[in-house]
Amino acid sequence: MKGITLPVLGIAAIFATSISSCNNQKSDDTMETKKGITKASFGQADGKEVFLYTLTNAKGTQVKISTYGGVVTSWIVPDKNDKKSSIVLGFDSLSGYLAKPPYFGALIGRYGNRIANGKFKIDTSEYTLATNNGRNHLHGGNKGFDKVVWESATENDSVPSLMLSYLSKDGEEGYPGNLNVDVRYTLTDDNELKIEYSAKTDKATVVNLTNHSYFNLTGNVSNTILDHTLMIDADNYTPVDSTLIPTGEIKPVKGTPFDFTKGEKIGLRIDSVKGGYDHNFVLNKKDSSLTKVASLSDDKSGRTLEVFTTEPGLQFYSGNFLDGSIKTSDGKAINQHSALCLETQHFPDSPNQPKFPSTLLLPGQQYHTVTVYKISVNK
Ligand code: BGC
Repeated sequence: MKGITLPVLGIAAIFATSISSCNNQKSDDTMETKKGITKASFGQADGKEVFLYTLTNAKGTQVKISTYGGVVTSWIVPDKNDKKSSIVLGFDSLSGYLAKPPYFGALIGRYGNRIANGKFKIDTSEYTLATNNGRNHLHGGNKGFDKVVWESATENDSVPSLMLSYLSKDGEEGYPGNLNVDVRYTLTDDNELKIEYSAKTDKATVVNLTNHSYFNLTGNVSNTILDHTLMIDADNYTPVDSTLIPTGEIKPVKGTPFDFTKGEKIGLRIDSVKGGYDHNFVLNKKDSSLTKVASLSDDKSGRTLEVFTTEPGLQFYSGNFLDGSIKTSDGKAINQHSALCLETQHFPDSPNQPKFPSTLLLPGQQYHTVTVYKISVNK
């Protein structure tokens, strides 16, 4: 398939024996911190071997990415006291992911977020998708891009970079067209995790790709994210019905609990939002340039996460449905609001909302979006 032409480097074949000890949400100061990229076996899924890549930058920051679901399983950075821990939810073995947690760290596709009643039309053709979220379609269906094994290749580059590729076949989960998808993860020395999404189709289809990392900047899921301060550069959001499908309106955030324009503690007004935050924000940016759209900070750890994207929307999900039933690899309950997602995207249900920016991809067109998550520490 197009796009997986990059050679797998010798260095990528060096097996990282320390990987299983670099557990999510667990501090680990003994890890290998040599700049580069290593590859280790992570088990088997769908009869294929799954790999876990470790990207390390010059600062010793490490991001681990699984070829199952393209999942970011951990992102280990120091806090203001130089204590290292992972700022994302994840497991240190594949079995945690095979148990289908709610999209922890995963690549989401073919369509991130919801499509009403699992139906949409392109011209006169109507398509029916899996309804895996009540009566709606969510995050690509029963077996979305988060549950498939991706092809992988690393690049001969001074910056650790991993290319993941997947062919989503015509009719998969009900979507039309063979879709060739490439996602490149790069970890820069500025502690940026850059995610570049590319896709091409051979039939008109809809595409909306994102990453579903759950962040907790304290590095400890026993703390909630309610004390984190969030800024979203959005004067408007898309209100939803009781099944979280946008009503089609674009409403101002001013004077509502959705106003994060100046930066606000998440817990301050969450109780006045039924069910918690799970909404698409209409970003103020006016074009598809890579622009800073959000920042999240936590005083306890001194960590700040900035989000840059080429996309027009951002789903802020405050981990409302986490209920303690899933445990971290070291046995801690993952409770409600113990982590949050900032999913860059086109708006939910766009295929049925003529006023929203289009998610249509035609043969001959190139889908290309970029999102950067950047972490810094204020000492
Ligand atoms: C959605 C939530 C959903 C969560 C996990 C988020 O992107 O907006 O409604 O519960 O993903 O599935």
